Amino acid sequence: MIRFDAQENAFYLDNGRITYCFGVVKEGYLESRYFGRHLRRCQGSARPAYFDRGFCSNPDSQDKRFSLDTLPQEYPGMNQGDFRSPAYAVETADGRRVTRFLYQGYEILPGKPPLPGLPATYVEQPQEAQTLVVRLADAHTGAQIQLFYTIFRDLDAICRHVEVVNGGREALWLERLMAMSLDLPGNNYDLLTLSGSHLMEKVVSRRPLTADSVVLDSCRGASSPQQTPCVVLTDPQTDETHGRVWAVNFVYSGDFQGVVQMGQYGGVRVQMGMNPLTFGWNLEPGQRFVSPECVLVYSQQGLNGMSHTFHRLYAQRLCRGPWRDRVRPILLNSWEAFTFSIDEEKCLSLAKQAAQLGMELFVLDDGWFKNRMDDRRALGDWVADPVKFPHGLGRLAQGVREAGVEFGIWFEPEMVSYDSDLYRSHPDWVIRSPYYDPVLSRSQLVLDLSNPAVQDYLVEAVSAVLTETGASYVKWDMNRHITDLGSAWLPARRQRELSHRYMLGLYRVLEQLNQRFPQVLFEGCSSGGGRFDAGMLHYMPQTWTSDNTDAVCRLQIQWGTSLLFPPVTMGCHVSAVPNHQTGRVTSLQTRFAAALGGNLGYEMDIRTLTPEEQAEVKEQIRTYKALRETVQHGTFYRLLSPQRHNDSGWNVVSQDGNTVVCCQYRVLADPLRRTTVVHLQGLDPEATYRRQADGVCFGGDELMYAGLSDAPVRQDFVSVISIFQKVEG
Ligand code: DGJ
Repeated sequence: MIRFDAQENAFYLDNGRITYCFGVVKEGYLESRYFGRHLRRCQGSARPAYFDRGFCSNPDSQDKRFSLDTLPQEYPGMNQGDFRSPAYAVETADGRRVTRFLYQGYEILPGKPPLPGLPATYVEQPQEAQTLVVRLADAHTGAQIQLFYTIFRDLDAICRHVEVVNGGREALWLERLMAMSLDLPGNNYDLLTLSGSHLMEKVVSRRPLTADSVVLDSCRGASSPQQTPCVVLTDPQTDETHGRVWAVNFVYSGDFQGVVQMGQYGGVRVQMGMNPLTFGWNLEPGQRFVSPECVLVYSQQGLNGMSHTFHRLYAQRLCRGPWRDRVRPILLNSWEAFTFSIDEEKCLSLAKQAAQLGMELFVLDDGWFKNRMDDRRALGDWVADPVKFPHGLGRLAQGVREAGVEFGIWFEPEMVSYDSDLYRSHPDWVIRSPYYDPVLSRSQLVLDLSNPAVQDYLVEAVSAVLTETGASYVKWDMNRHITDLGSAWLPARRQRELSHRYMLGLYRVLEQLNQRFPQVLFEGCSSGGGRFDAGMLHYMPQTWTSDNTDAVCRLQIQWGTSLLFPPVTMGCHVSAVPNHQTGRVTSLQTRFAAALGGNLGYEMDIRTLTPEEQAEVKEQIRTYKALRETVQHGTFYRLLSPQRHNDSGWNVVSQDGNTVVCCQYRVLADPLRRTTVVHLQGLDPEATYRRQADGVCFGGDELMYAGLSDAPVRQDFVSVISIFQKVEG
């Protein structure tokens, strides 16, 4: 899949469907040549024209047409005449930032080597992928930059990351180190991003690229609900099904920067990496620094094509552990029903009722640990509150299991309250400057996870509860962003390393817990989808998608999330009405139809349901169990966007192609009661499908090409769930 063409001085990464090509020019600059649909060769038919242009400096004084400022590059430096966004900036011992990393050599490795201490995609067999390592060397410092490229045999994705090796005699300071940089030709692109906020995560934003740069970033200590470390470029006419897409997603959960920069003479530069605002790294002689990785996806089949590659890669080769391929339990979470006023009696009665309705897991959310009566105290002290749980958590978990459901529990391990035994005994364990009182958020402080003692404490504290309770599920929350970046543990010259060291510390804690408790299903959360990113999925194969459980809002949030992440990674719960975030009243049916887009859960006091509602919930659970394999492990298609339309819809097709689920939603009633048609995807046009509700049969061709209409009613917030089974013969 990877070859070096000596005649062209070019590298080809090619799996028969996509080609990625770059060359080595002049004394060792890497020229981006092509990333797209498979080519037999790439000999430069679309290469930009080079002229002697104003203000363009020339590394080869004999060739005024050649300038780094106009060359499409793979990993551009700074201070050498490319005045666009640099991929790296290295400060040398003399305080200068002038380096010249030039091509030195390459090697090709089978499979994909792991990234030590970092989340990454992986292979199970070496023949699933091949990896190219290209070495760039700087003659003055003796340092090397190694560019890693992995191409997958069965997926249209390329993973890139960068390693820096200080082979010199003096320390280097890494100031900026993008995980990838790529210059694409042309200037007629749309840019899609997933921005948002707490309660409205991952809203799709699309606009034409014009001159200038677009910078997406987070300096919050988390990938954040505000931005997603993802850049998607498309042709202007690309839609869900057709057209070209180039996407980059960062497999990292901390601060990031994404850059999209139009060149003055055309061409667009795309970069993604750690945010230079909060990143810096002191690299001593002999040391190596490994950046997190980026996934680059090319699709010829529009945005759904792009999502299918991300979905397969993330579900099968990023998520790990026994839960990767299993269906996920239907859970009941205590939070929206009881917030902090939870106790043993409530838990046991909820668990009993949950079991009667067919649910499989009871999750004890916030409020269970000593002295935690509100959000102003107790974070860090991970022992049960003796008043609320007089018989201890072990007995509670046992009781929950006896009631007929598994036991799961909430933690927010990265945090500490002033009013906690942990803070009182380790005031130096928080992130802060010694000169100012740290800024509080939700009344809490952030622990300094760069400190191995803090990491070890967390592993032991969480392990103790998991061992005592035998919990089969953990919800791992993070409810504030990081301010006052300062560590009592790190020396002065390493303070700028804190943000990345925090992430490395967190990943180490999660890795150890994964190893100690391989059977536990971890669900990530950061006040909802505030850290719903590819990095976290490596340790926790599902994430709570949003604290906003309003069915109408969820349509948009889940739609945006599905651009990158498959339904099996999304926690989707039915909650009480009026919704606690929006005050909106939607029917139980529509709340279920919205939650059907991911891993189903309930988050309400189910003891207060009327007998009719109980019967409806029971039926929903029965339906979900029958469809769970399809919804969670099938192929998901976005059909009609809830962002742009009053009506929206999606469908999913089971792995064996036999079951199809289609959900249609109408937000506001249409006085004209017009019919909306969605065109299903992924069906066999030659096959026949029987609709479960009425037994009527349709051809796959009809459902896809003529479409499926809804049944307009005089009501707001309505939904239709259509289930089809392929008919034999
Ligand atoms: C924020 C989460 O998103 C909620 O689901 C809940 O767990 C609360 N934190 C608890 O404090």
